[in-house]
Amino acid sequence: MTSDRQARPAGAFDDGALATGGGSHFATLIPEAPDALLALIGLHAADPRPGKIDVGVGVYRDAAGATPVFAAVKQAERWLADTQASKSYLGPEGDARFAALLAELLFGAGAAAELIGLQTPGGTGALRLGAELLARAAPGRSIWVGTPTWANHAPLLTGAGLVVRSHRFFDAEQSDLDFGAMMADLDAAAAGDIVLLHGCCHNPTGVSFDLAQWEAIAELCARRGLLPFVDLAYHGLGAGLDADAAGVRRLVERVPEAVVAYSCDKNFGLYRDRVGAIWVKTQSGRVDAVRSNLYALARVNWSMPPDHGAAVVRHILETPALRAEWIAELAAMAARIGMLRQRLAAGDPRLEPIGRQQGMFALLPLAQGAVAALRREHGIYMAGNGRINIAGLGEASVDRFVAACAPHLGQRQ
Ligand code: LMR
Repeated sequence: MTSDRQARPAGAFDDGALATGGGSHFATLIPEAPDALLALIGLHAADPRPGKIDVGVGVYRDAAGATPVFAAVKQAERWLADTQASKSYLGPEGDARFAALLAELLFGAGAAAELIGLQTPGGTGALRLGAELLARAAPGRSIWVGTPTWANHAPLLTGAGLVVRSHRFFDAEQSDLDFGAMMADLDAAAAGDIVLLHGCCHNPTGVSFDLAQWEAIAELCARRGLLPFVDLAYHGLGAGLDADAAGVRRLVERVPEAVVAYSCDKNFGLYRDRVGAIWVKTQSGRVDAVRSNLYALARVNWSMPPDHGAAVVRHILETPALRAEWIAELAAMAARIGMLRQRLAAGDPRLEPIGRQQGMFALLPLAQGAVAALRREHGIYMAGNGRINIAGLGEASVDRFVAACAPHLGQRQ
């Protein structure tokens, strides 16, 4: 992976000291602040207050506040431990059957044959691989990203060699999608530019496109020569597996070329096992070049992806009883998030839009300084931009959470 780190100018490097053995080879590196979102995990863990509330990093939590391993995953892991005969290397593409089964789940039966698919280390690996492929095809090309977006998007895309440009997306006053503004901004993009889209359950806002809007995006991309790059990390945690996939399916059907990055971290609960995939749709004459470049980029980045989680997903998807159990577990998670959304929406009129949005996240209309005050005074841990992971709330804590937020609601940060 190429380095994203900032460095001092070359002149700051003390060649003389190095030559005499006294300098550091790392003297040009500037310390980086810890990732603000991931740092919340440690801050929350270190807080001794019993009533603390963790609505920070996007991991699912059940009513008891735990992130248990799916029952279907446990069974698949037992099966794997008993039957796996070898852990010898796979190629840079990982497990091709895993990517094909996942493609069928996402795009529908038969769709895998039309796509180049690879297993990746998590959705982040898929995003990075896609971004490096696009930067290799056209160095310095622009990628349009709606504001706000996942905090890791811009550094990841920039680090891969793309130029990140922002388009309007979210109307903070209305807590709603501003589709007109988004389309007006994208209409000004240049042919060859890329458009990053959240496939469902937008992170951090929870707003989604309807099917007509997906079609309008597809039409714009095709007409203006823009390439859609979809990030799909919460499949099944919004309106269900089919409904959450419907927009991406429609988009990929309607455009000549597309890239889709997928994460199994949340919908199979395999976070630290790092399970993801990438698919590329391209013209028939470009398939070999795209596939071989993806393999080459995977090889220099991680050689081949970790197998365990993908083997678990593969076994679940190809075993009808386990597949049904996984679908039921996922549906129960989505239903719990939906119930919490309704509780939040009913708790304060200013939170009413949350009831119409989907997925794990919502962006609260908080006043300046509120995130720090809520942490200090109530032990409530949320991202600095006011994003909450709704699944981090419990049936018992949701009213207390709304009451704590109420004095700070109304004005965006
Ligand atoms: C999140 O946004 O909280 C998750 O996607 C976790 C992460 O890696 O940032």
